[in-house]
Amino acid sequence: MSALVTVTENLWSDLDVEAIADAPLGPLTWYGAGGHAEVLIAPRTIEALRTLMQRCRSNDIQVRVLGSGANLLVTDEGVGGVVVRLNHPAFQKADWLGDGTSTTRIGAGADLMKLVQESARRGLGGLSQLAGIPATVGGAVRMNAGGSFGDTAQSVHSIEMLTIDGEDRTIPAAELDFGYRQCALPVGIVVAAHFDLVPGNPEEIRKHVKEVFDYKKSTQPMADRSAGCMFKNPIDPATGRRESAGRLIDLAGMKGQSIGGAFVSERHGNFVGLREGGTANDILALAFAVQQRVLDHSGIRLDREVVVWSKRCENADKRRSEVP
Ligand code: FAD
Ligand code: EPU
Repeated sequence: MSALVTVTENLWSDLDVEAIADAPLGPLTWYGAGGHAEVLIAPRTIEALRTLMQRCRSNDIQVRVLGSGANLLVTDEGVGGVVVRLNHPAFQKADWLGDGTSTTRIGAGADLMKLVQESARRGLGGLSQLAGIPATVGGAVRMNAGGSFGDTAQSVHSIEMLTIDGEDRTIPAAELDFGYRQCALPVGIVVAAHFDLVPGNPEEIRKHVKEVFDYKKSTQPMADRSAGCMFKNPIDPATGRRESAGRLIDLAGMKGQSIGGAFVSERHGNFVGLREGGTANDILALAFAVQQRVLDHSGIRLDREVVVWSKRCENADKRRSEVP
């Protein structure tokens, strides 16, 4: 156990939040594995979240934010500090081209897959490239989720967030400097995103949603317990272009390999699945073995895309005062 401040009920007891001490995080992630959070807090209002962040900051308590847990591996020993979850209605609200503005404001806790469907239903284009990606809006922004059909960045107008100090900030997309699976988000929690959605032909939009979704379904093990692609696609030094990490893993003969309950998918080499009873340690051990094998086979080093929460990096994270 690290020498971190222990979180006590004084932190939240007078706030409009739902709090669970020693909360299992595994069931809140797609892997369904990993340990507990010292305390899991779901604020019901933005004011409660703001005050919580300010108190955490002044008491030197680390804050993490959980989306839908689709790109997240929580290590078996769990994490200290506060884990925030934006699953109350205040953080899931949608204002479709509201108040005479031209953008659509969506709460960061809203479900991206439902949002893609609903915008298609309304005949609003701009999100169909994200069909089939499991995420909250906040998680999709943070990861710049996407793929060969496009990414989140291409329709983000701006975001609203609370910084690590609990200060409100609105940041235009241009300042977020979106790149491949990354953005320059200041440390803190995204509370809403504004999207530029363009009215179009609903049938055409629905057709595109289906095309993107069908491609994912036919090439990826969507029903396995995983966190999507384990590694980012690396730049191949020979071509200067990004190469599919899945293809490199496939060529290195790693498909079907397993350690404990973790296995490399036969369908897509970059998906590390987990069988019932498997642990976060199994996943980490297999990811390491895959990385080594690809390096030996192709000379290319794979970097992880999946975010790992562990106690081990707590002090380092705290020094940088980051919400990882
Ligand atoms: P989480 O996994 O909960 O968190 C990921 C990171 O985002 C963490 O660092 C977390 O702290 C941070 N975060 C979450 N919410 C906020 C917030 N409100 N403010 C600030 N930071 C926040 N990804 C792709 O890009 N393309 C794909 O095609 C794709 N396919 C997938 C298919 C499957 C079956 C699965 C399981 C995953 C797939 N992924 C894919 C990965 C995942 O869907 C994305 O990375 C997604 O953006 C994760 O969002 P989330 O809400 O689940 O975030
Ligand atoms: N390929 C293989 N073997 C494999 C996997 C892929 O040979 O095991 C080949 C495919 O046949 C294809 C090429 O590699 O010729 C590219 O494959 P794919 O279209 O599946 O794309 P990818 O680069 O492997 C990326 C994203 C996915 C996203 C898809 C589709 C990354 C790390 N992955 O995969 O995103 O869904 O494009 O848009 O960028 C994620 O990030 O979690 C994720 C799933």
